[in-house]
Amino acid sequence: MDASNHPATLAFAIDRSRPVPLTTQITATLRMAILDGQLEPGARLPSWLDLAAQLGVSRGTVKAAYESLEDEFLVVPCGAAGTRVAQPRTSIVPPTPNAEAISIAAPLSEITRSFSERPLPFQMGVPAQDAFPAKLWARLRTRAVREDASAPVAAPDPRGRPELRAQIAANLAITRGIHCHPDQVILTSGYKNGLCLTLLVLQLQGQRAWMEDPGYPIARMALEFAGLEIVPVPVDAEGLDVARGIAMAPDAAIAIVTPGQQAPTGVTMSAERRKELIAWAERHGGWIVEDDYLSELQLDRRAAPALMAGDTSERVIHVGTFGKTLSPALGLGFVVAPLPLAQRFGEVAACLNPAPNLTTQLAVANFLADGHFLRHLRQMKALYRDRRNGLCARLNGYAMPKSFAGLAMVMPVPKDVDDVVLSREAFRHGIAPAPLSVFHHDRSKAAPGLLLCVTNLRGNVLERACDTLEKLLGGASTGNMRRSDLVEA
Ligand SMILES: Cc1ncc(COP(=O)(O)O)c(C=O)c1O
Repeated sequence: MDASNHPATLAFAIDRSRPVPLTTQITATLRMAILDGQLEPGARLPSWLDLAAQLGVSRGTVKAAYESLEDEFLVVPCGAAGTRVAQPRTSIVPPTPNAEAISIAAPLSEITRSFSERPLPFQMGVPAQDAFPAKLWARLRTRAVREDASAPVAAPDPRGRPELRAQIAANLAITRGIHCHPDQVILTSGYKNGLCLTLLVLQLQGQRAWMEDPGYPIARMALEFAGLEIVPVPVDAEGLDVARGIAMAPDAAIAIVTPGQQAPTGVTMSAERRKELIAWAERHGGWIVEDDYLSELQLDRRAAPALMAGDTSERVIHVGTFGKTLSPALGLGFVVAPLPLAQRFGEVAACLNPAPNLTTQLAVANFLADGHFLRHLRQMKALYRDRRNGLCARLNGYAMPKSFAGLAMVMPVPKDVDDVVLSREAFRHGIAPAPLSVFHHDRSKAAPGLLLCVTNLRGNVLERACDTLEKLLGGASTGNMRRSDLVEA
């Protein structure tokens, strides 16, 4: 007699005290038995009824477990012949790589802390989580999920939802002085994605790009990946030194700038420099990418208008993000394309880079439409100002001069200290300042320092974080934190 016609007997360990649904536990046991080979291809599983009786669960629970396995192509229903273990196909059983033998460094591990870890004090790029309107957001998202679930399913607009693009256009007029048509607004997953879309549209491979020096290291890497040659243009108290840029590379195809609050110096580009930059682009047919990562989040006054607000040359591509103003967890940003490029941006988005997160888009549209966004910005500015003042008062005794840039304090460290090693050491002690030197084109020539973001320094976190920082700084000029590129006197 064919043994495979006898239902398999298996030892099940069902634990009702675990917060794991019974269906999931049954599925896991059977999956393991199949992948381990304990249940061979063709073997018959017990009927729903028998296994339900054996385990003291409902028939529906077993049925749901079998259906999950069927979805994973691990079992096949064979009518009267019962449910059978599927014949293996190489594509069905996932290979089990030897995880220890493989080491793939996480992206950007040289310059950032691991992704997806809990944010630490001083960490750049994370907003005040304690001040995020979580209840309101959950309500808006639930509403959006419900609306989306009952809406007729049609191919979404690759530029993003019209209602959000209209809200963003209206909001930009108020907060950034930009007057644009909603069809000039193309949604992205954030600034980096906006830069990617822009580079896809412009196709500038092999050409030169002005990059602020110091400047956002990820943008610098992005341009290199996109096949551009970087021209590091110095930044001074008025922002990008346009005259130097022209002297270094008058024929550059593109300039990437942070005119609102320069990253990492915090300088707002002067009116004169804005004019010079736009005039250069207009004269020579260059493009300007305006990285408006902080938007209206200027802590000391009303933020200066966007560069695009004063551009009649149609050479500025404005790239925004909700990463700082709301949360990077939304994965949402936008590009405002100059009118002559708007259609092309839409075409490229449609073919290569359609807008993400339909439901999130709807929730953000409602967040803006109901007036929550401007209120949230106002509250965040006040909160970050308080936190910045708290940090300033706490570190008052530290001898080196400090300044503020955007949402961070810039703290120089003794010149013999390697700020990258110091930051890594800081992570191990539970704080996450960013090294300043990585913003420089030539790190070995940069004065070392730390960027201390103030956004998540709430209550007693500030005190503990500063204690840790001071201890680290105390020992930083000795041992392995010294710069290896400095020649001993
Ligand atoms: C200068 C600068 N630009 C842009 C961004 C935001 O990028 P994204 O929206 O892709 O997270 C950051 C984030 O830290 C930044 O520092």
